Amino acid sequence: MATIIEPFKIKVVEPIKMTTRAEREAAVRAAGFNLFKLRAEDVLIDLLTDSGTSAMSTHQWAGVMEGDDSYAGSRSWYRFEKVVKDLTGLRHVIPTHQGRAAERILFGILCKPGMTVPSNTHFDTTRANIEVTGAEALDLPCAEGKQPGLLAPFKGNMDVDALRKVLAERGRARVPLVMMTVTNNTGGGQPVSLANLRAARAVCDEFGVPFYLDACRFAENAWFIKQREPGQAGRTPTEIAKEMFSLVDGCTMSAKKDGLSNIGGFLCTNDDALAQQEKNLLILTEGFPTYGGLAGRDLEATAVGLEEVLHEDYLAYRQASIAYLADRLDRAGVPVVRPPGGHAVFLDAAAFLPHVPRHEYPGQSLAVALYLHAGIRSCEIGSVMFGKPNPAGGPEVPSRLELVRLAIPRRVYTQSHIDYVLESVLEVHAQRASLRGVRIAEASPHLRHFTARFEPLT
Ligand code: F0G
Repeated sequence: MATIIEPFKIKVVEPIKMTTRAEREAAVRAAGFNLFKLRAEDVLIDLLTDSGTSAMSTHQWAGVMEGDDSYAGSRSWYRFEKVVKDLTGLRHVIPTHQGRAAERILFGILCKPGMTVPSNTHFDTTRANIEVTGAEALDLPCAEGKQPGLLAPFKGNMDVDALRKVLAERGRARVPLVMMTVTNNTGGGQPVSLANLRAARAVCDEFGVPFYLDACRFAENAWFIKQREPGQAGRTPTEIAKEMFSLVDGCTMSAKKDGLSNIGGFLCTNDDALAQQEKNLLILTEGFPTYGGLAGRDLEATAVGLEEVLHEDYLAYRQASIAYLADRLDRAGVPVVRPPGGHAVFLDAAAFLPHVPRHEYPGQSLAVALYLHAGIRSCEIGSVMFGKPNPAGGPEVPSRLELVRLAIPRRVYTQSHIDYVLESVLEVHAQRASLRGVRIAEASPHLRHFTARFEPLT
């Protein structure tokens, strides 16, 4: 059978609201042309993020009912801990309310001013949690990862030669850990190979530096390894995921992605002394180490989700659905990042709107146009997010790429929703010559994309 279907049927439905163009115009104007400021109910298809937006299964909902909210030593905690230990093989499991809480605790303990944390590419909260300690967050993406149109199997990899150079120059004392983000979200949701993980591990061993995974999308990464890495086709995603974790000394995790839950995360380590410090900090701000800021039901939902996410029929459907959208767009001449990543399709807005200069934010313009045209909410990942003031004056220094991310929530939308998105992007593409840029009318100095107000240029 050529058609890969959703490996689930629908038991509960959540209505979505159809709006008219005039209603969307009023809504986006009131939101200052910033899609983060829309009311979600005014969005038809919400592709802002794949984080915390998964649909839970019957088994997860059953787990929710079984949730034990005892303050200390709850049954749900032991279930959660067992699943995480079986998966990761790591000795200490510390529950957190989401990924960035794990990051804050880890970097808060290990990082000091003058230190550097290398990664294939840090996600923005990871970068921010490193920088707030005074340390440097250093991205070392591989060469293929820097070319959006290039077809290569593992564009999320780290440049391991560059890593060796950094470690040789700065030494163990100035590099408290090395991170690998799987999949590489900021780089387009591109996977990292086992070979690259092993090579980075070897370099970390040479210099005695701990090696960590930012494991948010570990299952999607394992699926790409199975599909693309020589010798891996015969293994299960679970076996591959376990090998990925076996190569590291610890991990941070947002269960809002491949935990298939709406909230939750964890921090793991093999270092006994570090685990003790982390638990002390956890108690201070998150909660007792057997719940870490989560309700028992969230621990249950995540425990079930971490196992379900590795089912082959689920991963095959997930990848097929995203590849379908990206391939159809590509064939129709819409510029997209290739090959498609594991959780999103990224439109190349600079190529989509070549007549809009970078300092007029083509990504923001495209994201607003998609909402106005079809009620689809996407996310600009370009110069609104990463543009920097120009020290010489004049227009800002643009970000490396101008992307618009269509992040696909897990198990939420059906094939006809995906077809609707496809048609909508094609229709906006057909009218692209009429689109104009935007200007920033008001912005905060940090993470301005969340709150900025824009004005359309005419
Ligand atoms: N690491 C990566 C690679 C992420 O993609 C995210 C979140 C985090 C860490 C932080 O996890 O949100 O649970 O605190 N990414 C979301 C996104 C927000 O839309 O890509 P969190």
